Amino acid sequence: MSRFPKKLAQKLEKRKVDDSLRVLSEPKGLIDFSSNDYLGFSKKTQFHDSAVEFLEERKLHKNGAAGSRLLTGNHILYRELEDFLVTHHNSQSALVFNSGYDANIGFFSSVPQRGDTILYDELVHASIRDGIKMSNAKSYKFKHNNIDNLNVHIERSQNRNDSEIYVVTESVFSMDGDSHDLKALTDLCTKKNCYLIVDEAHATGIYGNGKDLVSQLGLEESVFARIITFGKALGNHGAAVLGNNDLKTYLVNFARSLIYTTALAPHAVASVLSAYRYLESYGKEESSRLKENIKYFKEKVQLLNMDAGFIESDSAIHCLVLTGNEKVKQVSKYLHAEGFDVKPILSPTVKIGQERLRFCLHSYNTKEEISRVLSITRNLIK
Ligand SMILES: Cc1ncc(COP(=O)(O)O)c(C=O)c1O
Repeated sequence: MSRFPKKLAQKLEKRKVDDSLRVLSEPKGLIDFSSNDYLGFSKKTQFHDSAVEFLEERKLHKNGAAGSRLLTGNHILYRELEDFLVTHHNSQSALVFNSGYDANIGFFSSVPQRGDTILYDELVHASIRDGIKMSNAKSYKFKHNNIDNLNVHIERSQNRNDSEIYVVTESVFSMDGDSHDLKALTDLCTKKNCYLIVDEAHATGIYGNGKDLVSQLGLEESVFARIITFGKALGNHGAAVLGNNDLKTYLVNFARSLIYTTALAPHAVASVLSAYRYLESYGKEESSRLKENIKYFKEKVQLLNMDAGFIESDSAIHCLVLTGNEKVKQVSKYLHAEGFDVKPILSPTVKIGQERLRFCLHSYNTKEEISRVLSITRNLIK
């Protein structure tokens, strides 16, 4: 059918006019300053091979899970992975979802109840916001990384006698690369009896010797739930909610994005287990290479006098704010022509005026690549 609804066509036209139309593209073999493959795990062929061995040992010869986890899809590797996650991330329980997106919508649509309040950092990921939209609880955003503003919101909710207060943040923000003072945040939430949820997508496998930022800081007991994901530093796909046993039982019963979807294929779960086993042995080396590159990148930014344009970050994500979709797209295009994949982040993904180039650093980037990409960028924006 060639007909297309008029309202949708108008929305697409507006995207074109705003220079923000999204298109799908394929990798062009450029130097990677863009993927979430922080430790290069997505390219490790040994995970693929050891995943096949896992399956052979357990005589799991199935291409797909053939059902949701509550029906026929819950193969033995799920138990192995969840047991592993409990020990590795120091949590009472772990529940694997098909993706971080699914974990967040499953959690936020089902856990906060009518009469409860969700307080979320204004920059949290779309998957958290979508989950919140599906919830019956009231929700308010607090200023990014601003604990005083959060406190004002908590006091307002307490004055209204809201039942439970859920506070949600990311340990490393996906579009800014910065972090909350998690210790101060957990102290506040403990003092005020709030339930804190931390999305660890960009910290999983990197901090605390291959664990996450909450683990590195020893705050596991003060956090109600952590969302860890396997699609970034683990180089795979999928996610888990870490929390106590009651939370796991609750989610198995009420999180619709777990209940009403086909489970991950055995091979996918085996591959995540292989990545974690590798991380146990080599995680320290891999993440120290990444940390060295982060340090080198920051030094170079300073040397080139570019620090004023970059958002302060100690993580693998570094953003140079260059106002306007057109400008960011143009600089990114030039960098592509020079062989570097650095993605433009456009509004409406970020606020108008906050458009940026997002440099994702990896353990496998060389110092020379880092120097070159920054020197070229500086010449382009001078
Ligand atoms: C902070 C954050 N949470 C959740 C997700 C979703 O994770 P997944 O890609 O596994 O769906 C992302 C993905 O970009 C993210 O950045």
